[in-house]
Amino acid sequence: MYLEHLSLTDFRSYAQVDLALGPGVTVLVGYNGIGKTNLMEAIGYLATLSSHRVSSDAPLLRFGTERALVRARLVRGSQTTVLELEINASRANRGRINRSNPVRARDILGICQTVLFAPEDLALVKGDPSNRRRFLDELLASLIPRHAATRSDYDRVLKQRNALLKSARAGKFTAAHESTLDVWDQHMARAGAELLHARLELVERLRPHLSRAYAELTDASKHADATYRSTLQNQMDDDGVPAGSVQQAPGGGSSAAQDDLRLLSVEQLMERYIQAFAESRKKELERGISLVGPHRDELELTLGQAPAKGYASHGETWSMCLSLRLASYYVMLDDARTGGSAPILILDDVFAELDVQRRRKLAAIVAGAEQVLVTAAVDADIPDELSGRRVKVIPGGIDEQ
Ligand SMILES: Nc1ncnc2c1ncn2[C@@H]1O[C@H](COP(=O)(O)OP(=O)(O)OP(=O)(O)O)[C@@H](O)[C@H]1O
Ligand SMILES: [Mg+2]
Repeated sequence: MYLEHLSLTDFRSYAQVDLALGPGVTVLVGYNGIGKTNLMEAIGYLATLSSHRVSSDAPLLRFGTERALVRARLVRGSQTTVLELEINASRANRGRINRSNPVRARDILGICQTVLFAPEDLALVKGDPSNRRRFLDELLASLIPRHAATRSDYDRVLKQRNALLKSARAGKFTAAHESTLDVWDQHMARAGAELLHARLELVERLRPHLSRAYAELTDASKHADATYRSTLQNQMDDDGVPAGSVQQAPGGGSSAAQDDLRLLSVEQLMERYIQAFAESRKKELERGISLVGPHRDELELTLGQAPAKGYASHGETWSMCLSLRLASYYVMLDDARTGGSAPILILDDVFAELDVQRRRKLAAIVAGAEQVLVTAAVDADIPDELSGRRVKVIPGGIDEQ
């Protein structure tokens, strides 16, 4: 798929901007702070309903405004779709598909598919486990839009359950609370099992692509892999480290685990959660938080024998991040739902971070994608392999020359 047109109103630094786009490579060049990332962020937001830079919507609205509009014309095969997203300061965001009546923002998920590479991706390896959980959930929401609803159901139950546990910690726990907690346990086990099942399946789809992409980007001296660690196997502490163990054997691979959750159905995982909640109830009441569930799981990334986090060099960390993004691109390509329609690749300011060797390898890998949008402060950062249309970003807009 590719975007043919992007129009922003009161989004970030733009009062109004229109950008004509086409298939193939487009390179946006402009000074630091001119608004290149703002454009890429808008496209990413249309695809995932979240920004790669901020966790709340407020910074997306142009200073002093109450509403931002992102509008795009998307071409997929012979089909053209006009997507519109209204980001509101004080009420729910809304979407529109082909100028229809407004729908929930969530209903436009999965229509525009992007894979966005950005300097912030370093957090995928170096950051806390929530970054990696978000990576999985966002990709799932793109592939299976229903996943976004499961995720928000889970978050809602988790919040309510935590509030109850917190009140118990404050010594206000009664028998009535206990039966309410039982009800929350059921809800959380159901949504949690669906979430876990989908994530486990996705990780298995990502792993071969991850290893291959890493080998392609580097001299292939190390094997890159990913293992999903669930709180059902091991309770994690707040950093995603299995509680009570000094260091789990890294790179063991989930296949080596005696307890292979990948073989279980959603129903079986749900039973496992119910059981785990019962076992950890005493501890949860003492601590006042939910200790078991996909909100505390970890996606462990390994390079050779060592975990990437804490061991990988700066260059290796970058290669791992790029490989994760490339892997998600390949999974989307494989996905039958896209009917062979490739997602849009967005490379925001990544070439400046890479050495010449990896710049060229990455460029060669992405050059063949249906649409590639690249930003750079200076032309010199763009490798020759990515020849394509050049667009100059100037204050407040686009210079088409
Ligand atoms: N909500 C907002 N309202 C108005 N201006 C904003 C808002 N959010 C960000 N900006 C402005 O947008 C500019 C940043 O734009 P952006 O991040 O797209 O730059 P860039 O071209 O990607 O720069 P770099 O090359 O440094 O990455 C900053 O000048 C910032 O002050
Ligand atoms: Mg930028």
